[in-house]
Amino acid sequence: MRRVKLAPSILSADFSRLGEQVEESIEAGAEYIHIDVMDGHFVPNITIGPLIVEALRPLATERKAVLDVHLMIENPDLYLADFAQAGADILTVHIETCPHLHRTVQVIRELGVKPGVTLNPATQLATVEEILPDIDMVLVMSVNPGFGGQSYIPGSTEKIRRLRRMLDAIGSTAELEVDGGVKAHNAAEIAAAGADVLVAGSAIFGGTQSIAENVAAFRDALARETT
Ligand code: DX5
Ligand code: ZN
Repeated sequence: MRRVKLAPSILSADFSRLGEQVEESIEAGAEYIHIDVMDGHFVPNITIGPLIVEALRPLATERKAVLDVHLMIENPDLYLADFAQAGADILTVHIETCPHLHRTVQVIRELGVKPGVTLNPATQLATVEEILPDIDMVLVMSVNPGFGGQSYIPGSTEKIRRLRRMLDAIGSTAELEVDGGVKAHNAAEIAAAGADVLVAGSAIFGGTQSIAENVAAFRDALARETT
């Protein structure tokens, strides 16, 4: 049975207690830590740089978590080496920012990092078809990137289903990740459509419940889907 992985997005964490909160999410069973890098150009927000990746690297290594770095920046090629050196395990670039995507993907792999490609909600799946055999992750944005706490775009589920078929048709082992508006209440639907990794920011670090309770709510919802 497929086990869907959880990738808490630290964008919604309390940055004054970042290490503690990341540790709590890993302790509760999250496999990946999702790090949202925004430049104020490709998206209208500025967030995190390589320093935070570097700061979380020892904890991730100790607790065997994967640092999943989502680059929402123009000219990502300029910063790939910095993020690799900082300790990213996965580097995901937006197809909308990469005119020479194949080269970008090759560079990421040469740096010893797993390459991923992300699509905005209005970007067609056909644009990633040629690169699918060369990547380890495809990230479907289910909100317009830039901010946490937005609502899931309902049409995303059908897009995930179509992408799942495309990946299966070529025997790809690339992980299908979904990001934006993912909550315990829609996790099962997204997993059933074929997602391997669910990103969740506000649903894990926000609200009134503890991080552990929020992670557990996802696990319960996913267990119901697969039984
Ligand atoms: C949005 C980011 C997401 C964001 C998700 O641009 O890529 O990773 O943190 O936040 P939620 O889960 O709150 O929609
Ligand atoms: Zn993200």
